[in-house]
Amino acid sequence: MIEGYAVPDFVSDFWHYYIAALTILGIVFSVWVLKSQTTRKLAPGEQAETLHPTWDGDLQELNNPLPRWWMWLFYALVVFGIIYLVLYPGLGKFQGVFNWSSASQYNDEKTRVDAQFDRVFQPFLEQDPMAIAADPAARAMGRNLYMTYCSQCHGSDARGARGFPDLTDNLWLFGGTPEEIRDSIVNGRMAEMPPMGDAVGGEAGAREVANYVLAMGGKPHDAALAAAGREKYAACAGCHGEDGKGIPAAGFPNIVDDAWQYGGSEADIVASIMKGRKGGMPAFQNMLGDAKIHLLTAYVWGLGGGVKPAPASVAEEAPVMESGAAAAAQQ
Ligand code: HEC
Ligand code: HEC
Repeated sequence: MIEGYAVPDFVSDFWHYYIAALTILGIVFSVWVLKSQTTRKLAPGEQAETLHPTWDGDLQELNNPLPRWWMWLFYALVVFGIIYLVLYPGLGKFQGVFNWSSASQYNDEKTRVDAQFDRVFQPFLEQDPMAIAADPAARAMGRNLYMTYCSQCHGSDARGARGFPDLTDNLWLFGGTPEEIRDSIVNGRMAEMPPMGDAVGGEAGAREVANYVLAMGGKPHDAALAAAGREKYAACAGCHGEDGKGIPAAGFPNIVDDAWQYGGSEADIVASIMKGRKGGMPAFQNMLGDAKIHLLTAYVWGLGGGVKPAPASVAEEAPVMESGAAAAAQQ
């Protein structure tokens, strides 16, 4: 069921009656017009009256009644309209005897198709994503799903683009274990950083902090600016940590590694500070369901950057390989 679709658009019954009444009156009016215009037949031998004007001297327009077959066609249309309104929605919020709606038709079709897919996908639900990543047939299915639902943003090669993370490397914003990848897909990621320009004293202050961030990451930087930025970095430490390593599990990225979502040049970092940033990874739980998400998790994990979960959680599962890179290499 799609939320919001099957709910009538009318907030009070007034509009329901108003529209239903207009529709019925419209039909009654049509019948009346039809009848008033078509009851008269020419008496035998009677000449149809001539309408003005005459064109070109000898072209005349005669006021003949409608041919009967044509008139009956109009009546048939009215009857058709009434039958339609009884069977299908059209009278205000009256659903029609068939109780049909485009949303319910969509849902029926989706349920039917999902049932077919589930037969194929369901068996994988019991398997560990890391095992699935090693199965070429499952990877092919995962790839099809990826191309359909994910490639628009993460690219057909999954290498991402500015603002859209690369899913093939072993640098993760939110973690690369099967559980963490699954969580990214299920709940989406909408990590948000407010614009911080005011907190660091505008563009100039942002440059200082950016150089301090670069310095913490051991990257080329301007030492004088970085020194000036050290104190101002206090405004960032609450989210990105004193050491800049962030709290990935909470969606606060590490800003001292090489995994940049929006770019790691001084100018990029200044832009992140001045404008703020907001991720746009939609949640897929409702749209895809467990089985597809499970296959996708395995597929993304196997793209090359998959991280093995900490030993405790692996113990009773079936670890099959060293890493996602090994899975990718196997095919
Ligand atoms: C509308 C664009 C969009 C679509 C579609 C999309 N993503 Fe994302 N995805 C993003 C963005 C943007 C981020 C980063 C979110 C953030 O920074 O808060 C992201 C983050 C992720 C992450 C976390 C990456 C990391 O480094 O931790 C994973 C995993 C992921 N997406 C997988 C998928 C999969 C699988 C699909 C298909 C089912 C998909 N995405 C579809 C935009 C998208
Ligand atoms: C309220 C928490 C918060 C504060 C305060 C904050 N950030 Fe962020 N920052 C985030 C989040 C969340 C993201 C990820 C946004 C996304 O995924 O779209 C982010 C992203 C970034 C990025 C982009 C990382 C990339 O991979 O491209 C940079 C750079 C950054 N922050 C630097 C800073 C600096 C410097 C400060 C201090 C001036 C700061 N942030 C203050 C939460 C915060």
